[in-house]
Amino acid sequence: MNENIPVHVGIIMDGNGRWATERGLERSMGHKSGVKNLKTLCTYIFERGVKVLSVYAFSTENFKREKKEVDFLMSLFVESFYKEFSFLKDNGIKVMFSGRREPLPRKVLEVMDRMTLETSDFDGPIFNICLNYGGQDEIVDMVKNISKLVSNQNIEIEDITKEVVNKNLYQDLPPLDLVIRTSGEQRISNFMLYQSSYAEYYFPKVYFPDFNNDEFDIAIEEFQKRNRRFGGNKK
Ligand code: FPP
Repeated sequence: MNENIPVHVGIIMDGNGRWATERGLERSMGHKSGVKNLKTLCTYIFERGVKVLSVYAFSTENFKREKKEVDFLMSLFVESFYKEFSFLKDNGIKVMFSGRREPLPRKVLEVMDRMTLETSDFDGPIFNICLNYGGQDEIVDMVKNISKLVSNQNIEIEDITKEVVNKNLYQDLPPLDLVIRTSGEQRISNFMLYQSSYAEYYFPKVYFPDFNNDEFDIAIEEFQKRNRRFGGNKK
């Protein structure tokens, strides 16, 4: 068996709304099914040997949605984080969040902080949840962080390297190897722009609630067929 398993996988969990609408259900039911699917899927993804899983839970742009849907999603995050926290801890999963804190409601920040703190010394797989996240904002925030280091004379401009840049992103993670966007849309929509420089992209047609373990196996097979050259010659 080919054991070329990606170290870092990203998932843009798209299509919850369409999944529900096509079944004559409220969009909120699609998000609920998405959460249910994510629990099974993340367990399986770590079982397959992936070390870091980043998921796009809520973009900065998602705040433009109807207030009813934004409020529902915020409550769903709080509810599912509290509900699944012991499951994540029992499985040694280290939880991280990427994104800006403003204007997330306090109840969301509280549970995020608790999960981060209580799993901070775990050395198992990493579950990075991008919440109120924007890739361009992350780059802006990284530039601000490094500028402060320079103006406080903690670093010389000549010493700014790719490693320094990576350390000043929201999280210091390995590069993305594989990015999956469900629902057939072929866009990256501001997801982990710096980290995905050499990622392979995969765009399955199914909506996120239907992106099950078998679908993930197909994504891995596809990844294993790709010839990753990182800018070098074709082998
Ligand atoms: C996309 O569907 C999904 C989202 C906006 C994010 C919500 C994701 C979940 C609820 C999954 C669970 C996440 C966590 C971290 C608990 P969409 O509404 O854009 O679908 P559409 O494109 O069909 O309208």
